[in-house]
Amino acid sequence: MSTHAAPNKRITVGDLAAKKQAGEPIVMVTAYDYPGAQIAEAAGVDLVLVGDSGAMTVLGYDSTVPVTTDEMLMLTKAVRRGLTAPLLVGDLPFGSYEGSDALALATAQRFVKEAGVDLVKIERGGTSVDRARALVGSGIPVVGHVGLTPQTATALGGYRAQGRTAEAALAVIDDALALQDAGCSLLVIEAVPSQVTAALMPLLEIPVIGIGAGADADGQVLVFHDLLGIYGGPAAKFVKRYASLREAAIDGIAAYADEVRSGAYPGPEHGYAMADAEAERLREMLAGR
Ligand code: KIV
Repeated sequence: MSTHAAPNKRITVGDLAAKKQAGEPIVMVTAYDYPGAQIAEAAGVDLVLVGDSGAMTVLGYDSTVPVTTDEMLMLTKAVRRGLTAPLLVGDLPFGSYEGSDALALATAQRFVKEAGVDLVKIERGGTSVDRARALVGSGIPVVGHVGLTPQTATALGGYRAQGRTAEAALAVIDDALALQDAGCSLLVIEAVPSQVTAALMPLLEIPVIGIGAGADADGQVLVFHDLLGIYGGPAAKFVKRYASLREAAIDGIAAYADEVRSGAYPGPEHGYAMADAEAERLREMLAGR
């Protein structure tokens, strides 16, 4: 009889479509390392995105723009090692896919071959629609991302909600429809008024994951560090904190520091023992030198 627990059943893109059909909300969260992936899986999420938000959350850049393909691949491979059942989405970083279909394909293939992602995510409509079509045509499932697209936030006027006028909302909707038409399996819609999502949903057949886009999407995604309260600073309006890990971590490390300084740690129970006779022999050997 095997002593191994049965591995969790792997979720498929088809399962997400079935959830959409059944009106069952889809849960996505970001992760950037092995323990984060294991935690997300243990919590029972459907998808894990190694977002380029990792540029800021774990690499300390002040935007997502500087992160490189190699840096993203390192994070993504770590997440892959910690994940069994949830679908794994790799985020192609700024500058790694926009220039041409060939560039997009070369980068996406690295994410599939080296990091084992199930899908890749790219931002924007426009030329990204062509890139999405080329990737899908080459057999790589793609997640589109519309609304606030942080890689090009400067061109959008900063990190702010998109689609707040009827014309701007129509542009977001047209991008979404074009990405679906290009063969995207899934769409992320970020930071738009809930009315825009509500207007979009009847027009789309693919599952839509919202972030700051209201309650009408088929699912929601939040950034791991935001929802767990690992950051100290202000968060976007749509972030809800479900834990306060930063405070818990600071308290834990401060208690450790206090005990090291007071001599309370380590106690005898944290050390290794040597038989009295061996300790005595060691003393004799040292005395005999
Ligand atoms: O990079 C990221 O984490 C994302 C999500 C916010 C959708 O793109």
